[in-house]
Amino acid sequence: MSLIECRNLTRTFKKGAATITPLQDLDLDIEAGAFVALMGPSGSGKTTLLNLIAGIDRPTAGGLKIDGKEISALTRGQLAAWRSEYIGYIFQLYNLVPVLTAYENVELPLLLHPLSRRERHAKVAKVLELVGLSDRHDHFPRQLSGGQEQRVAIARAIVADPKIIVADEPTGDLDGPSALAIMDLLSRLNKEMGKTLLMVTHDPKTAKYAHRTVYLDKGKLFADPAQAVAELESVAGGKEASHAGA
Ligand SMILES: Nc1ncnc2c1ncn2[C@@H]1O[C@H](COP(=O)(O)OP(=O)(O)O)[C@@H](O)[C@H]1O
Ligand SMILES: [Mg+2]
Repeated sequence: MSLIECRNLTRTFKKGAATITPLQDLDLDIEAGAFVALMGPSGSGKTTLLNLIAGIDRPTAGGLKIDGKEISALTRGQLAAWRSEYIGYIFQLYNLVPVLTAYENVELPLLLHPLSRRERHAKVAKVLELVGLSDRHDHFPRQLSGGQEQRVAIARAIVADPKIIVADEPTGDLDGPSALAIMDLLSRLNKEMGKTLLMVTHDPKTAKYAHRTVYLDKGKLFADPAQAVAELESVAGGKEASHAGA
């Protein structure tokens, strides 16, 4: 049994008179402990798929089993509780709360759990140390670099020890060195802490950190990473002579 099992997963949106179906009868299996990159053109439904797996959105049709449980059958309230146990979400633009310090941002998800202040402190300090920001507890997001903000966001995503981390273009807004640091950190979460990772990226170099790449286009998934990279590079229009697929 895979940790994540999508079966005939379909999501339809109504936009005025038009109906958009970014995901159509999609099948995807992700094993526990896997690190999967999800690529595909803009608007192909990558965020939609992440949101379904994260329990933020619900499928129009099809099944979505996680850890043996059919999450599409949960009520909204059940889904919120399930999410706080299973999912850590990392966004491209960090989504930190600007009026809260790094410490308070990371503490937020723990407020949904029955923990004492002291227990929360131990967990928050531990993950801020893990992401290399022990000396930034009292900094506000505006006082941090983009790379540091994303490290706070990663600390927030893992503080409640979820099984699954979903990341939506986590390095999309970062310079090269900061992006590398974030990818090293995500790799460690996978290798050392056993987190199952599903990451959307446009960058073949970033995708190489994953064990497997799936490519989403026109509602369908392609399994072949070489094909995914080749298609993306042709879409990029050969902006640079890339050897990333070699
Ligand atoms: N809440 C929504 N309401 C209406 N249309 C949506 C909604 N979310 C996404 N879409 C549409 O679904 C398609 C896929 O979007 P998205 O999953 O964000 O793509 P990607 O992340 O691959 O760029 C797009 O055409 C987008 O406009
Ligand atoms: Mg997206």
